[in-house]
Amino acid sequence: MSQTRVTMEVGNDAVAVITIFNPPVNAMAIPVIEGLMEKFEEASRRNDVKAVVLIGNGGKFSGGFDINVFQKVHGTGDVSMMPDVSVDLVLNAIEECKKPVVAAVEGLALGGGLELAIACHGRIAAPKAQLGLPELSLGVIPGLGGTQRLPRLIGLPKAIEIIQSSKPIMSEEGKKLGLIDAIVPSEELLEASRRWALDIAEKRKPWTRSLCRTDKIGSILEAKEVIEIARKKARRTVPNLPQHQACLDVIEEGIVHGGYHGILKEVKVAKELVIQDTAKGLVHAFFAQRTTSKVPNVTDLGLKPRQIKKVAIIGGGLMGSGIATALTVSNIFVLLKEVNSEYLQKGIKTIQANVRALVTRGKLTKDKAEKALSMLKGVLDYSEFKDVDMVIEAVIENVPLKQRIFSEIEEACPPHCILATNTSTIDLNLVAEKTKSPDRVVGAHFFSPAHVMPLLEIVRTQKTSPQVILDLVAMGKVIKKVPVVVGNCTGFAVNRTFFPYSQGAHLLVNLGVDLFRIDRVITNFGIPIGPFQLQDVSGYGGVHGSLERIFEVVPGSSIHISID
Ligand SMILES: *[C@@H]1O[C@H](CO)[C@@H](O)[C@H](O)[C@H]1NC(C)=O
Ligand SMILES: *[C@@H]1O[C@H](CO)[C@@H](O)[C@H](O)[C@H]1NC(C)=O
Ligand SMILES: *[C@@H]1O[C@H](CO)[C@@H](O)[C@H](O)[C@H]1NC(C)=O
Ligand SMILES: *[C@@H]1O[C@H](CO)[C@@H](O)[C@H](O)[C@H]1NC(C)=O
Repeated sequence: MSQTRVTMEVGNDAVAVITIFNPPVNAMAIPVIEGLMEKFEEASRRNDVKAVVLIGNGGKFSGGFDINVFQKVHGTGDVSMMPDVSVDLVLNAIEECKKPVVAAVEGLALGGGLELAIACHGRIAAPKAQLGLPELSLGVIPGLGGTQRLPRLIGLPKAIEIIQSSKPIMSEEGKKLGLIDAIVPSEELLEASRRWALDIAEKRKPWTRSLCRTDKIGSILEAKEVIEIARKKARRTVPNLPQHQACLDVIEEGIVHGGYHGILKEVKVAKELVIQDTAKGLVHAFFAQRTTSKVPNVTDLGLKPRQIKKVAIIGGGLMGSGIATALTVSNIFVLLKEVNSEYLQKGIKTIQANVRALVTRGKLTKDKAEKALSMLKGVLDYSEFKDVDMVIEAVIENVPLKQRIFSEIEEACPPHCILATNTSTIDLNLVAEKTKSPDRVVGAHFFSPAHVMPLLEIVRTQKTSPQVILDLVAMGKVIKKVPVVVGNCTGFAVNRTFFPYSQGAHLLVNLGVDLFRIDRVITNFGIPIGPFQLQDVSGYGGVHGSLERIFEVVPGSSIHISID
């Protein structure tokens, strides 16, 4: 098994090229780790090997440690499933290898992938490779020496910024920072890396071990100051996440007691964090977000999503114009239909204001904003609907009105056109009742403001065709939403979660608990705003509606809360 995951070839130049093979991103699964151990041992033993190049197959170095292992640890509670890689492989086999090792980095080196690369004695990268340590976003810390070697290579402030933000940098910036030794075109990467490795072996270039360097970290006093500033910032910005402070503890250990002690503490803390609730929650969320795009009997049928190029939106109210904004900024042509020119102008003005606000907030360049607005056309009838790929109806919640619109658009649109509604309260089967195409009818439920909020609930009936659902999932991604396919049930995904949550708060108040205390407990837990403060800011009209709905889902509820 390990043979197929990591290969080694020794060339005429006496350079051994060790290649990680684990598509799609060369994640460091257990067999990969075993394969690396084996090959580095062999390279260091063989007399015909002078130097080593480490590379990933298929234009990607490595996406990092295999997150499935975290999931297994969480499932079993058995933290011994985490392999001890940091000392045996990264430190002893790679950094302390008797032959110089150069990492040939292309595509991405993230998490454990970057940690492997920075344990090597040189790093050559292709342009635009992503380099980052995203571990904190999963509730853990870098566990293969990243907390120790990155500060030693690029200095403490920048290393802390990269680790605490979980955001990658490009190889060009890495070169400026001293993380990368040279950038070469992709097609020269392997050759340049071999030469670099030989140059180190033959003493034309220095042979440095990252963990032994101290030239970039300054005095202990200076380092402690930098760490203290980072601690304060983390306390303010992520008060409920233990991994940010834990990571700074580990960095400090290495600064004060030396890199090897730092490595040992890093391993210990990483194992402690991985079984905490924060990591469990964040890893769950990571997989859950990915699972939303895998829908049984939809995405596993071998269908291909059809491209949606032109969408008609009926209703230029708040929701309709928000949806139009989201589509046009993603280069989808939009026809906005209203009943008269006064409403139409109002809708278009709202879209223009939305787009301008995106520019002001730096989310969109001026050019892209102009492009977006050129993708919009206002209309008062259906005459231009004959080539639209999808219609989204966003009028008020009124059954006869929606039914009439659906039978009209079925006439006006081509037979492949998807017929979507933004309704959340009306049964889709009822909406589709007057049409002959229930297989094309689907719910597209956005959250207000639709061009800002990331979630898109896609509501299917038993009759909605898999192709239509798939098309909508694909379009959701194009417009940078997280599409979630849901069935026809009260509250869909969001309100189904939100109602019991706010209902719980109301039950407690009814039992006599101080509502300020409830909000405080919730915000201390990490939710930015408590349920009662949320009601204050969203207005009592909304509250009244949502309370009614809360009681709807609790049959026989006898609680009465007077609002007025
Ligand atoms: C998928 O379709 C098959 C056959 O129609 C059905 O038996 C199965 O229950 C469906 N699975 C899901 C998860 O809907
Ligand atoms: C659908 O859009 C209309 C028009 O903007 C809006 O009044 C209504 O609240 C929207 N419905 C939902 C469930 O978002
Ligand atoms: C959809 O949900 C509504 C409200 O829960 C219900 O009245 C209706 O019967 C459901 N329709 C289908 C087809 O499941
Ligand atoms: C969720 O609840 C809010 C507040 O009651 C309501 O405005 C919205 O339409 C609901 N959405 C769904 C999908 O039920």
